[in-house]
Amino acid sequence: MKLLSALREGTTHLHGNLDRLVSERPLASRDGYVRFLSMHARVIPAIERWLLKAPEFSGLPLFQERMRSEVLAEDLKALGHALPSPVPMSFLNAKSSVAGICYVVEGSRLGAAHLCTLLDRAGADFPTAFLRHGHGRGFWRSFLAWLAEQDHSSAATERATLSARQLFGAYLGVLEMHDDDRK
Ligand code: HEM
Repeated sequence: MKLLSALREGTTHLHGNLDRLVSERPLASRDGYVRFLSMHARVIPAIERWLLKAPEFSGLPLFQERMRSEVLAEDLKALGHALPSPVPMSFLNAKSSVAGICYVVEGSRLGAAHLCTLLDRAGADFPTAFLRHGHGRGFWRSFLAWLAEQDHSSAATERATLSARQLFGAYLGVLEMHDDDRK
């Protein structure tokens, strides 16, 4: 599947970098967990607002149910934190980037089960509505089926991959900023 392989190939290194950067602070510590949730909270609400305005996004099965801004805010609130301000994401202007953006957003759920297990094993009693969101709903499977129907032309594939890279870049930037602020 050309589009999916291009998205994977074009972002694997960035996922690796993000995974490494996230793992620099233990997720099972309150600081590490708040850092992780805050990273998502600087990105997800703006991305979801943008997606809801993009006509292509409404073709994704259960698109409204996929929204996680509310559970993210609830988890942060339970930890005593307000939603942080969104990071600027100027690349969101390209309407044709929906496939790439959704790849990153939907993919971000895949590690969640793993992270939940880590928290459980460590006996950390944190609010996990965000990490557990969509569990058992087959979101990844239906996303892949939808992706297979999207424009696979070279130009569309390139744009989707670029947007996915930019979104990973936004995540990496948020974490770097967060850590710099605390130096
Ligand atoms: C420490 C943090 C993270 C860990 C440990 C992690 C772990 C994983 C794991 C285990 C998978 C594969 C799951 C499977 O095949 O069933 C995965 C896939 C993926 N993750 Fe992460 N992840 C993390 C953070 C993120 C974040 C923050 C994003 C997005 C911003 C993200 C985006 C993706 C994507 C797009 C995939 C799909 C790869 C593919 O199959 O094409 N991950 N992650």
